[in-house]
Amino acid sequence: MRHNRSLQKRLGVGLTLGATLLWLLGVAASGLVAQHEMNEVFDSALEETAQRILPLAVTDILNRETATGSRTAPALKEHDEYLTYVVRDRQGALLLQSHDADPDVFAALPREGFTDTPTHRIYGASAVSDTIYIEVAEPLAHRREAALEAGLALLAPLFILIPVSLFGIWWVLRLSLRPVVEFQQSIESRGASDLSPVNQDGLPEEFEPTAVAVNRLLERLNRALDAERSFTANSAHELRTPLATALAKVQRLKTQLEDQHLRKNVVEIEEALRSLSTLSGKLLELAKAEGGGALSQSPHNLVPILAMIARDFESRTPDRIRLTLPEGEVQSLLDPDVFAILIRNLIENALKHGDKQQPVDVSLTGAGILRVCNGGDIVPPDQLALLRNRFSRYDTKAAGSGLGLAIADAIASGSGMTLHLRSPASGRADGFEAEVNVTHAGGNSGPCT
Ligand SMILES: Nc1ncnc2c1ncn2[C@@H]1O[C@H](COP(=O)(O)OP(=O)(O)OP(=O)(O)O)[C@@H](O)[C@H]1O
Ligand SMILES: [Mg+2]
Repeated sequence: MRHNRSLQKRLGVGLTLGATLLWLLGVAASGLVAQHEMNEVFDSALEETAQRILPLAVTDILNRETATGSRTAPALKEHDEYLTYVVRDRQGALLLQSHDADPDVFAALPREGFTDTPTHRIYGASAVSDTIYIEVAEPLAHRREAALEAGLALLAPLFILIPVSLFGIWWVLRLSLRPVVEFQQSIESRGASDLSPVNQDGLPEEFEPTAVAVNRLLERLNRALDAERSFTANSAHELRTPLATALAKVQRLKTQLEDQHLRKNVVEIEEALRSLSTLSGKLLELAKAEGGGALSQSPHNLVPILAMIARDFESRTPDRIRLTLPEGEVQSLLDPDVFAILIRNLIENALKHGDKQQPVDVSLTGAGILRVCNGGDIVPPDQLALLRNRFSRYDTKAAGSGLGLAIADAIASGSGMTLHLRSPASGRADGFEAEVNVTHAGGNSGPCT
């Protein structure tokens, strides 16, 4: 499975991890250098101390009146010793030691120069023709503590560096990717019928070819759709006059014919011409619905339009329509002619495909929710999803071409509304319901249900 992760997130985490890793490497390298330098300084201090103490110790030892004089140098003040020392003769006999010195730390025989024990670093020097030796010891723990503190001091900035770098990278990326995000949103938020070029101003160089390609594609699509729409509209329009003429001639012929068999044939031709004429009318409506222009410049009150259309149907199919209108006005940007096409198709469907024994509920609420509801068999969900397609019909004996819902859907999506189709109708166990919020006209279309 492919995961589409955010570029911003990926770069933010990647760059921060990279910067942290580099910093850690830098800390390790500078820690090693610092430790080496510190060791040199500590060694030099150790050597210096030994060289300083040795003459004093020699004088002290030589001036002793008895061989049993104090062998421990007195401490002037109580304190902890970092450096301890012992002064011994060549055989290792102790002559003098600092007050905290532990003779076990030192080797049995004195040695000159630097030596390491598991716990101490020791420096030895001799005087009086190698008869008196001094050895100064420094605990290694002291050095380790100094190295650790230096390391921690170098690591400490990381705690600030990580959040600051995460935030900084995130901020810079957000700033640089803003035109890309705007570009993506402008494609995402446009209605299905909006094929105008996408604004590519301010896009980073790397994304410009994509924008150019998208705009070129939109232009080609627009041209293809325009050609298709104008072909549909023109052919439907061109068919109208000859169809009307043919129908009139057939009707005249019907009245002149005495032979019942011939008359029956002519009636069939008349029916065929009539359905052809209806089809060309529906194709014209579809071309208009898909051609844009579903919105008008200023809002209109749709209540009287709905009342008029419902009355029109009522006169043709008495007592079948139950109309519920709001008390006030319902203003919508939907073009009144387009609204008339929409409502005609929905009511016509309800009357035609619904149970003839049950009424058709047509309602418009003050909030702009238009609902056309009828009784009848349930349309299964998989079929329901297909009904908006052109020429799609489901299990009906009624005449028709399968264009009504395609027209209604094109009007809804072209004007930023959503046409909801439900079966069974809401609040009942059977039937069919079509719902659309006419006050959403002019906004962006939402998902279809
Ligand atoms: N109110 C409804 N109740 C039950 N079924 C419906 C209803 N409206 C539509 N349908 C089903 O959806 C199908 C498609 O409807 P649509 O309006 O697109 O085409 P049509 O009514 O068959 O033909 P046309 O509208 O072109 O004359 C219908 O054939 C019918 O099966
Ligand atoms: Mg229909």
